[in-house]
Amino acid sequence: MNQRENFGSRAAVIMAMAGSAIGLGNIWRFPYILGEYGGAAFILLYIAASLLVALPIFFAESVIGRRSRSNAYGALQKLAPGTRWRWAGILTILSPLLILSYYSVVGGWSVQYLFKSLSFDFTSAAPEAVSGFFSSFISSTWQPILSHTVFIALVAGIVLGGVKKGIEKFSNIAMPVLFVLILVLIVYSLTLPGSSKGVSYLLKPDFSKLNADAFAAALGQAFFSLSLGVGTILTYSSYVKKEENLIVSGIGTAASDLVFAIMAAFAVIPAVFAAGIEPGAGPGLVFETLPFIFNKMAGAAPVVSSIISIVFFVAILAAALTSAISMLEVGVAFLTEEKGFKRVPATLLLAFFTWLVGILCSLSFGPMSGVKILGDTFFDFLDHLCSNWLMPAGGLVFTLFVGWKMSKASVRDELTNGGRCNAVSYKFFYYLIRFVAPVGIVAVSLTNLLL
Ligand code: TRP
Repeated sequence: MNQRENFGSRAAVIMAMAGSAIGLGNIWRFPYILGEYGGAAFILLYIAASLLVALPIFFAESVIGRRSRSNAYGALQKLAPGTRWRWAGILTILSPLLILSYYSVVGGWSVQYLFKSLSFDFTSAAPEAVSGFFSSFISSTWQPILSHTVFIALVAGIVLGGVKKGIEKFSNIAMPVLFVLILVLIVYSLTLPGSSKGVSYLLKPDFSKLNADAFAAALGQAFFSLSLGVGTILTYSSYVKKEENLIVSGIGTAASDLVFAIMAAFAVIPAVFAAGIEPGAGPGLVFETLPFIFNKMAGAAPVVSSIISIVFFVAILAAALTSAISMLEVGVAFLTEEKGFKRVPATLLLAFFTWLVGILCSLSFGPMSGVKILGDTFFDFLDHLCSNWLMPAGGLVFTLFVGWKMSKASVRDELTNGGRCNAVSYKFFYYLIRFVAPVGIVAVSLTNLLL
């Protein structure tokens, strides 16, 4: 066996995990999902789902990863040889590829918006023109497919060329920049006339807007945002040193992910109200709102606004790429380590597969918008399938494995580093892993299925 590499420090662990976690899920997905399910009440539900279900699953994956020191597919086999647990490995290969298919379409939108920023489309156009950008772009056939192709090519190129280290270093700069820019956008959004309705939408919970779907959506968003249930965190944890405190790095990752999502909501939703956009407008929400913000800002300071929009989309693209690489890499690692593939054909094959499926997702906003699967467009169907079913299923397997199959002594050993830390919090989280998280997942899935 090769000597496995380790992350050098606690900061490096949190940075790498946060790099996978923070992405389009926070900036694109969270604001529109919360807009669909009614604002503040949904945020509370989301925080509850993150703490009670997602965080315990994060720890379950961390325990399996560090204990087995192995990839997602091999891990369960190694810890429970010859049992059926290995079938869960299949999930961990398929789901990230399906997610990448539609993630790449949205990544493509960011590419397109970067080009639009570079040609000053948002800052120099008339306000009426800007609001129509998204709908005309998205309903066209070729442009979104072309952008999706560029994004997939970037992801495949990075996975192939091994510039992964470079892009990760780059993203370590881009993330703090993104953080600062979102702060700037929040401040600016709050000054827009009409934005105060958005603020009360985010702060005053209206529980009557929550329906049965909202629980599944909150849980699904928590899974998506923390990259859970598909073995990403498991794989990253297999590189974490024995002395590292798993509970502390998990909480650090989850907290930064949550902060980013809530900040994005405060940047976007007040501007949604100021622009008169419907908060439940769906996957295009952020992309309809941002041009409005940049265009308004340009009225006061054109150069500053142009610079902010360019840097903003570069940073989003970096965040999206670090997440997307982690999805493709799971499949490539499986084909090369377990199936004897060479790296180049494995990468090209999987990139081609995700590209094809992604084309269907892209078309479902335009020419194929009438094609529905179980009432959803192809894009929404894939997203719901992955976020509300496949990821929770993976999460369920991981919690059951750690809570009921692994010996208590080894779980304790991992979470407390052989009894040296976390004696109290370990008991609490072990209880969540054994009971609360699995019951939560099953209850939410049943509600979703039956209502
Ligand atoms: N969490 C990332 C985001 O918020 C997306 C992501 C990366 C992901 N790896 C994943 C989602 C694995 C699910 C599974 O953008």
